Amino acid sequence: MPRRFLVTGGAGFVGSHLVAALLARGDDVVVFDNLRTGHRGAVLPGAGFVQADLADAGAIDAMLAGGRWDAVFHFASLSLVGDSMREPMHYLAENSGNGLRLIDACIRHGVTRFVLSSTAALFGHPERIPIDEAARIDPGSPYGESKWMLERALLWADRIHGLRSAVLRYFNAAGADPDGRLGEDHRPETHLIPLVIDAALGRRPEIAVFGTDYDTPDGTCIRDYIHVTDLADAHLLALDRLDGGSVTYNLGSSHGHSVLEVIRAVERVTGRPVPVRLAGRRPGDPAALVAASARIARETGWTPRFQELDAIVRTALRWREAHPHGYAT
Ligand code: UFG
Repeated sequence: MPRRFLVTGGAGFVGSHLVAALLARGDDVVVFDNLRTGHRGAVLPGAGFVQADLADAGAIDAMLAGGRWDAVFHFASLSLVGDSMREPMHYLAENSGNGLRLIDACIRHGVTRFVLSSTAALFGHPERIPIDEAARIDPGSPYGESKWMLERALLWADRIHGLRSAVLRYFNAAGADPDGRLGEDHRPETHLIPLVIDAALGRRPEIAVFGTDYDTPDGTCIRDYIHVTDLADAHLLALDRLDGGSVTYNLGSSHGHSVLEVIRAVERVTGRPVPVRLAGRRPGDPAALVAASARIARETGWTPRFQELDAIVRTALRWREAHPHGYAT
């Protein structure tokens, strides 16, 4: 019998790629998404779809009551660090509130497996790089805090109710489905790689480099870009690991790249120059975030297929060229 999964936020960037991975191995999938930031076109044929909001407790109950679920994957979330600094209570209420409602419903409906998209934003301005699972938690933003609250809630859900969870702390998800079916479509787009690609393609005048005076070799911020399909694969492996108990993993490629290195990579891959404007720091940005992902590699055998930044950029470029208006194309 195929396994059956509920995916909140399955019409979003990372969620849609997880759905693709589940469908590829023959699982049954239902996407639960309010389409506020997700896209109907990101839900691949073969997946069920329910347009509903996690603020609607009745909709969650109806969904979970409608049959046996092998696990719930929870992606649906506001995810912009900068916005969360402007509207902290909104971020905490929405991300933590919705997540708590969902966890509570899972417990009441007898769901025994839960997978949470968490974030490197938990680590704030880290003392050491690379960052392993034992690093000090000190969220640098209400966004990071909202995910930390859910991590803590899952700890108690496991201890008291036996709900096993895989907490996956993503570093910078990037790239696109290698088959070209799915990609990154945020409105507005704030992420570095799609913006630099647009600058290379002449779809925007330039890329602003946010900060050139960080304590890094070239003065620009360092991030760990991990291919979204590698991220999706990690979810499947982490889920299988839950038979042995709950797990928490930091998920990155374990390689750091500066903003200027990303720009150079896009220039190499597109063969075009990228107009650059050096700008001031963006509030809240840590100088460097690089994952130590040895634990998930050791415990599940996970190995990222996209090891090179250029290979990640190539998949993002392919989707962006074919979809100048994202899923509306
Ligand atoms: N950047 C620029 N110019 C831009 C956009 C970004 O210089 O126009 C820089 C940022 O300052 C940062 C880097 O590029 O140094 C990456 O920025 P992104 O906005 O692409 O990603 P973030 O690292 O800010 O955040 C992402 C996710 C968060 C998550 C975080 C964890 O959006 O949800 O990774 O690492 F929490």
